[in-house]
Amino acid sequence: MSGLFFALEGIDGSGKSTQLQLLAGRLEAAGIPCLTTREPTDGPIGQLLRQVLTRQLSCDSRVVAPLFAADRLDHILNAGTGVLQALERGITVLSDRYYFSSYAYQGVDLPLEQVVEINRPCADLLRPAATLFLDVDPDLALERIARNRAGTELFETKDRLARAREQFFRAFDREREREKVIIIPGGQSVEQVAEALWAAVRPFYNE
Ligand code: ADP
Ligand code: TYD
Repeated sequence: MSGLFFALEGIDGSGKSTQLQLLAGRLEAAGIPCLTTREPTDGPIGQLLRQVLTRQLSCDSRVVAPLFAADRLDHILNAGTGVLQALERGITVLSDRYYFSSYAYQGVDLPLEQVVEINRPCADLLRPAATLFLDVDPDLALERIARNRAGTELFETKDRLARAREQFFRAFDREREREKVIIIPGGQSVEQVAEALWAAVRPFYNE
């Protein structure tokens, strides 16, 4: 495997999808071929999950956690669109959310130990070179979401965003021996955050 895999993490409204596109553009401009992906994926399980998140379908959190893990396994291994095969071709892959999102969001309702256990097969298959966490105050994140989005999802209340953020940090602490996590202050302008992300990623290409 020769490509690098980076996961972008953060609560909703932290700017992940904005920054993912900018970072991909900068990598491509530097001559580094790049693929962007996201979770939930656009595959069949991911589509089902989006219906749960927008409340078109209701589903218990004990059921939703294994569904996310199944979607993740497909994200890694899929013969046509999987991350592993892109990495084998030397492509850098940037993913909007990965297993820390499960630890954070599902850890609000389920014991963190249980969520980590469900995701262990995925973590053992593919760990990111680094998890890039865009850290934004939940108030600011909610403001951005309210300003820019028509529909809201299951987690988009201030209390749940604040709890998800706390769970991210609990999981980073718990997994600190196994995972490389880089915290990026995400409350600045789009350009400033993009600059900080670029500075975090660039050293991986000089090694
Ligand atoms: P996420 O993917 O983490 O939910 P988005 O990239 O979709 O976040 O950003 C949420 C909203 O906030 C978008 O409408 C985006 O234009 C806006 N936004 C993103 N980054 C910033 C920033 N640094 N400053 C102000 N607004 C931002
Ligand atoms: P989000 O990034 O808000 O998607 P989009 O911006 O495309 O609407 O994320 C989808 C939601 O899924 C978010 O509330 C977090 C949740 N989620 C989990 O609960 N577990 C997971 O493993 C993942 C990847 C996401």
